[in-house]
Amino acid sequence: MRSAPLGFFDSGVGGLTVVRAAQQLLPDEDIIYLGDTARVPYGSKSPQTIREFAEQDVEFLLSHGVKAIVIACNTATAHALPDLQKKFELPILGVIESGVKAALADPSTDRVGIIATRGTIRSHAYQHALAQEKTGILMHEQSAPLLVPLIEEDWLDHPATEAALHTYLDPMVEKGIDALLLACTHYPLLIPKLQSFLPEDIRLVDSATTCAEHLKAELTRLDLLNDSPDPGSLQIHLTDLSEQFENLAKRFLANPPGKIKRAVL
Ligand code: DGL
Repeated sequence: MRSAPLGFFDSGVGGLTVVRAAQQLLPDEDIIYLGDTARVPYGSKSPQTIREFAEQDVEFLLSHGVKAIVIACNTATAHALPDLQKKFELPILGVIESGVKAALADPSTDRVGIIATRGTIRSHAYQHALAQEKTGILMHEQSAPLLVPLIEEDWLDHPATEAALHTYLDPMVEKGIDALLLACTHYPLLIPKLQSFLPEDIRLVDSATTCAEHLKAELTRLDLLNDSPDPGSLQIHLTDLSEQFENLAKRFLANPPGKIKRAVL
């Protein structure tokens, strides 16, 4: 089982932010990535539909013989993680706990802004997880449904994206936040843009690195680390193939993504 690949899934390109962090920390692991690009975004779908999609994503990865799965999508983590953990026997990790730990890594953090898809905000999964870790935190939640389509369109530097970011963020910046939790795996792609206009003292937090650390700890605990001497590989499967995805994937991964295959769920 140790030499079996790890499975990651997301609704689209965003989960590659988590893959990249995992590749850096676990360079010997083979990774199978599923991006459900035909049905992105998940964030605007009902909880029931998200759970159905997530279950199909897990089945696809299982059919590729993975030893553990990372739900590299906040929306799917928010709505499907407990059900998937109950239903399947292999280890399944999400990104929310990691995001919360990353946000609270600086003990002076008392006021947290959260941007995410509608689905994630509606679930209040971050509010609950933050409140469990630390009492008295002030939270400002904002759903930002336009950001995922803008990112998938590769409009990272477009004035429309900047206008959307201002509309979503200006009110919470005015109220005052110490950290902004990028509670969607797509959003790290916007970090350069965010840094260009947010006040410098607002810490930008994403879950990718802490999620990779959590994954490494779990694999170590379960004696599932790959001990093969060969470097790990990455295989990407998408439910819809598009040029935009390849361009974004190249930007996001340290190495070229290689041949991308079409997945049928
Ligand atoms: N990657 C998803 C997330 O982290 C956002 C994209 C979507 O809405 O499907 O929530």
